[in-house]
Formats: sequence, structure tokens, C-alpha cells
Amino acid sequence: MPDRAATLCFTTHTPEATEALGEAVGRLLHVGDLLALHGPLGSGKTCLVRGVARGLGARGRVASPTFILARHHPGPVPLYHADAYRLSSAADLLDAGLDDWLSTAAVAVEWAERVIEALPADRLDIRFDVLPEGRRVEVSAAGARSRSILEALRLADLGPRDLDLAVERCADS
Ligand SMILES: Nc1ncnc2c1ncn2[C@@H]1O[C@H](COP(=O)(O)OP(=O)(O)OP(=O)(O)O)[C@@H](O)[C@H]1O
Ligand SMILES: [Mg+2]
Repeated sequence: MPDRAATLCFTTHTPEATEALGEAVGRLLHVGDLLALHGPLGSGKTCLVRGVARGLGARGRVASPTFILARHHPGPVPLYHADAYRLSSAADLLDAGLDDWLSTAAVAVEWAERVIEALPADRLDIRFDVLPEGRRVEVSAAGARSRSILEALRLADLGPRDLDLAVERCADS
């Protein structure tokens, strides 16, 4: 179980709300920050990254990078959006240039559990569960930098700008 103080949990009822949550996270990220995304097919990982790119001010259409391993989105804080679904080992992600990406951009990795050994320990892990009413999204931090992002997210204004964008905090966070 992750330490409660280092975990925040949200429920999103629509894809737009998941994007809005991603946008709030994106606004807090700097070069070198890593988001590790976990969750089944179609659970909302790419959807959240679309919001992250918007929050960063990174350009280009965010789509699943499944067939190209990673997409680069230039911007004030650039984004590398990677998908480890088809990788067979963590070494493949290092070979693809993870360390270079982290030195120039924020990085989001879908199917992070497949390459977990390659990822920095200080990262935000974002876990998706599919619920009848939408998605449960748990954000946890495991280091000094990621905890400071999480604390800022705890205080961030997540709307609701209107009902479709509403992101609910789970009762325990
Ligand atoms: N609350 C919600 N948040 C996110 N997506 C939702 C929500 N409700 C429904 N959806 C739908 O779920 C799908 C999420 O797709 P998305 O591509 O983001 O998933 P993914 O986790 O990246 O999948 P994959 O593992 O194939 O990469 C979209 O079709 C979206 O419209
Ligand atoms: Mg995806």
C-alpha cells in the first residue's frame, strides 16, 4: 500500500474530466519529471496525457504512440510521450533514449509496469481503474520532487468549470 500522505485519488466521469486532471498535472511539471501510467487497455492513459500536453504548453496532437514508441511534443516544457506496450524489456526504453528525453523534457510512459526497472525512483505513478461511472485515477509520489508535485496538485484548482469537466477527489485524499 502506498503511504496515504503520498497518494491522491480522483474520480473522473468523462474523458474531458480526465483531460482536465492531466492538464492540472501538466501545469506543475518541469524538464526531468516522469509520469508512469498504469492501467488496462482503454482506461484513459492517452486521454490524460492529452491534458498533460496542454498543461505544459506542448504542441502537436497527442495520440497513442504504440507503433512508434515515443512522440516528441515541442514547447516551453517539451513532452516525450512513450508507450511500452510492445517493449519486451526495460533495456529497450533505455536504448530508445530515456535519459536523453529526461534531460530535455517531461516524460510520460504508458504501460510503465513493463519497463519499471528503467524508470527513475522519484516519479509520479498514475493508476487507472475502470468504474461503471468513469475512471478512478490514483496519483502517488515516491521521492522529494514527485512529492512536491503531488502537494501542489493537492492544492490545485481542478474545476468544476462545468459539469463535464468535474474531477471529484476521492474521500480519502
Ligand atoms: N472518465 C473517462 N476518462 C478517460 N477515458 C474515458 C472516460 N470515460 C470513457 N472514456 C473512454 O475510454 C477511452 C480511453 O482511451 P485511451 O486511449 O485514453 O486509453 P489508454 O489507457 O491509453 O488505452 P491503451 O492501453 O490502448 O493505450 C476513450 O475511448 C474514452 O472516450
Ligand atoms: Mg494509450
